[in-house]
Parts: sequence; structure tokens; C-alpha cells
Amino acid sequence: MKKILVIGACGQIGSELTPALRNVYGTDNVVAADCVYPLKGELAESGPSCKVDATNAQDIADAVKKYNIDAIYNLAAILSAKAEANPMLGWNVGVGAVLNCLEVSREFGCSLFTPSSIGAFGPDTPHDMTPQDTIQRPKTIYGVTKVTGELLSDYYFKRFGVDTRSVRFPGLISNVTLPGGGTTDYAVEIYYAAVKGEKFVCPIAKGTFMDMMYMPDALKAAIDLMEADPSKLVHRNSFNITAMSFEPDMIYNEIKKHIPDFQMEYKFDELRQGIADSWPNKMDDSCARKEWGFSPKYDLASMTVDMIDVLRKKLGQA
Ligand code: SER
Repeated sequence: MKKILVIGACGQIGSELTPALRNVYGTDNVVAADCVYPLKGELAESGPSCKVDATNAQDIADAVKKYNIDAIYNLAAILSAKAEANPMLGWNVGVGAVLNCLEVSREFGCSLFTPSSIGAFGPDTPHDMTPQDTIQRPKTIYGVTKVTGELLSDYYFKRFGVDTRSVRFPGLISNVTLPGGGTTDYAVEIYYAAVKGEKFVCPIAKGTFMDMMYMPDALKAAIDLMEADPSKLVHRNSFNITAMSFEPDMIYNEIKKHIPDFQMEYKFDELRQGIADSWPNKMDDSCARKEWGFSPKYDLASMTVDMIDVLRKKLGQA
């Protein structure tokens, strides 16, 4: 059975991808790694774990050797708004970690998954039905690191044969671990506010469309892409994938169907709004659908039912 290392296992994606991978490949075959160590709770108790600071190549190499790793999921990231506050940190994590993972993968023959993002696009990119192959001139350091990661990953595949694969994730909506410092975070925070009975102050302006996806579809996409038949992959780094495109009023009105008293006011955040305006309204993900069968299950309505249900239980209101 394949042995997998998840770097950034405690983050928004990692805290759910690690258990999902353990379900598929067996608990002993999936190593949860994070720079914050020791890991706590379910992640630590349900399988092997170790300390990996992704900006330190030796940490990654040691873990790969120790656990005989075949595949790495590199989830270390500083999200878009947070990276603007500290561009050097954004670069060191966004590019340093990818380059370290690529080098270790080359040396030890691992395959490598690294998420890219809608942030890899910029104001000059077509915003509607954003093509798979198009202009990528992002204006954020987060976007610059994502484009660099895509290019480096394709380079390592072509030059050294490293099996690199990646998706451009849209905003990810989840209920286990909160995202931090992202531009799409509002679409997670709005559910917490609604379920807690609080008024939500929306940092993104009315009418601002962005691509989004519910976490179960994101996890399936990451696993499916890494299992895809390589002979079918025309692209590698990275595939556009999306499940829905909405603006704040749409998610607000969907939540109100279940929580009629819920209130929201707009108070847009200049930094996040500027970033959101530079990103696609809706991507064309037909290449992912064609080359490896990407097909998300959740739309805004079904995600909202599930989010409210899960959060009510989590926050002790069910
Ligand atoms: N969710 C990320 C962010 O908002 C985008 O990939 O920064």
C-alpha cells in the first residue's frame, strides 16, 4: 500500500484530508506532519505523526526516509490577505516549501500534490469562464507564489520526471478547522455567525462573485487527481476546479432559508476586496472533468444544509 506524508496536517485542508486519506489507504500508511508538534487529538491518535517544518528540506527528507514515503501532500500555506501583511513569509512558505518538496520528491521518487488557487489569476485574466490556460499575472504575493509553484512543479515533471499534480482550489468552505487570513474566509465565517445567532459583518462587497467548494468535494478531488491515470493527463500543474460561484447576498439568502432571523451588514475590507476583485468570477473546469473525471457533489443549497447541521452539533445547538 502507498505510504503518504501530509505536510500541514493541522491546517484547514490537512485536518480533514489526513483522516480521508487514512480511510482510503489505512491509518498506518498516512503520516500526519506539521510544524506545530506534538499533534493533538484525533490526528495524533489515529495514526503516525511527526514534526515537519516545510521550509526545512531536511525535515521533509527525514520523514520521507523514516516512513518510506511514496506520495507527499504539501499543504503548507500562508493565505492571501495574511501573506500581504508579511510578503517574505508568504514567499518562504509558498515557494520554499514547494521547492523543498520537489527536491525531496526527485531524490526519493515520491509523487507530489501541492494546491494552487484561484489566487494564481489576476486582474488581466478573463474573469468569466476563466480558461484553464490563460494569462496569469497575479498582483498578490500569494498569487505570485502559486504561479511559481505551478511552474516549478511542471518543470520538475518535464525535467526530472517527478509525478507532480495540482489543482487550483477555489475558496474552501469547511467546518473542522477554520481557515486563517484568506480572502474567501467570509464564506466560512458567515455560517458560524448564523448558527451562533450573531449578526455577520461581511468584509466582501455585494456583487463580488468568487468560485467556492465544500470541503468533501475538495478532498475527493485531491485524492482522485493523485490516483488518475497519468496517460490521460494533458495538464498537471494546475487544474481549474470549482463547484459553485456566488456573491455574499446569495449565501446570505440561502442561510436565511434555514435561519430566518439571520442578519448581515456590509463593511468591506479594502485589502480583501481588492484581492477578490482581481480573482475570477467563475472558472472553466472542463479540463479537470475531461482528464480525470472531476465532478463535485455539493452546490450552495446542499452545502448550506450540511454546514448548518454540522455546526449546530459542533457548537452544541442541536
Ligand atoms: N482561500 C484562499 C484565500 O482566500 C484562496 O485560495 O486566500
